[in-house]
Amino acid sequence: MDTPARSTADLTEQLLAEVAQFIGPLPSAFDRAIRAVPRHLFLPALIWLRDGNGGHRPCDRGTAPDEWLSATYSDAPLVTQFTDGLPTSSASMPSMVLRMLALADLDRESAGRRVLELGAGTGFNAALLCHLCGDQAVTTVELDPTLAAEAERNLKAVGHAPKVVRGDAGAGWSAGAPYERIIATFSVDRIPSAWLEQTEPGGRIVTPWNSAWCGYGTLVLTTTPDGGGEGRFHAFASFMPMRELVPSAAAPADGGGPPEPRQVTSSALSPWAVAGGDLNAEFHVGLTVPGACFAWDASGEHAPARLDVADGTGPSWATVDYDGQHADRFTVTQAGPRRLWDEITAAHSRWESLGRPGVDQYGLTVHAAGARTVWVEGADGIREPASPERDGYSPAAARSPA
Ligand SMILES: C[S@@+](CC[C@H](N)C(=O)[O-])C[C@H]1O[C@@H](n2cnc3c(N)ncnc32)[C@H](O)[C@@H]1O
Repeated sequence: MDTPARSTADLTEQLLAEVAQFIGPLPSAFDRAIRAVPRHLFLPALIWLRDGNGGHRPCDRGTAPDEWLSATYSDAPLVTQFTDGLPTSSASMPSMVLRMLALADLDRESAGRRVLELGAGTGFNAALLCHLCGDQAVTTVELDPTLAAEAERNLKAVGHAPKVVRGDAGAGWSAGAPYERIIATFSVDRIPSAWLEQTEPGGRIVTPWNSAWCGYGTLVLTTTPDGGGEGRFHAFASFMPMRELVPSAAAPADGGGPPEPRQVTSSALSPWAVAGGDLNAEFHVGLTVPGACFAWDASGEHAPARLDVADGTGPSWATVDYDGQHADRFTVTQAGPRRLWDEITAAHSRWESLGRPGVDQYGLTVHAAGARTVWVEGADGIREPASPERDGYSPAAARSPA
């Protein structure tokens, strides 16, 4: 694109100021990297910006060149691909990219440090990694071959040539292992065994997290010599989920067998307490009630407000109805082998009894055999299982492996 150098230089200054406002003064290594990697050269002509109402609106370089250019230097995620109406690739928010690089301990002299990035997308993060670690030390994996080719072209245009692999990041990239750092730029609900196997002991895996209930948080896991890992969650970022080549087991379609017996009870737990935007409570439920997901039904068809709860891995479901008058009692209907609302109620009480911990207090230990323990650390430094009855639960057992 024919862009006056001065205007991108000004926009870069503006981006650096915006990022610093959000995450604090930038280490000089980051400042140099952002100046060295012009973000607009990584964006396609058509991008989608947040519309302020939870959706996206297109922005086309051809028809709105000034808006497009300033958007490419804003501290915002820019969607670059939609599939079936859902965003499937983006240039991540620069401040989030840098926070993750800092969590990977790459915010200082890192030449030669072997890094595997998962989810090449536009190639922008890979270019920052090349600047920090050197092209020879960087490998990036992208599932979508068209995106991989674009990332490779974009990287070449700014003078970088890391290894760009077309493939499923769930398998890592064994040919380049071992790595000192693995950085995923999509979210996961478990650590694939390949990532642990391909990270050298004492290395770090940095990945955004999601559960069926709550897509939030970033895990920094340090690998252990026995093939496991241990680390903490950090309270930031919501990334698009990893695309699965082998989809998770779908819930059996409703109506395929005899109707499930329904149980109707009442509950004192407000659905807003676990699905109303309290990220700490939602994070806890997501980590400890595997497979449970929710959607609000505000149509008024069944109740003034209804929370629909489902098990993404099986046939169980629940609804929680607010009658528009009583905020201390809610009508609950449950069906299927799991009593989902009972599980969620127990999880919420556990969260309260742990002192309503924040996301930063949670951690994960992945044992060499694949089981995992989610723990919560109190102010006194004592760790307790987030959910005693699920200590050692392995999500891989409940769903198809990636
Ligand atoms: C948020 S975007 C990545 C942003 C990118 N790092 C950048 O700097 O532009 C996430 C990317 O992960 C890719 N992805 C998702 N699941 C994947 C998988 N299983 N294997 C490889 N890539 C995957 C998507 O296609 C998408 O391009």
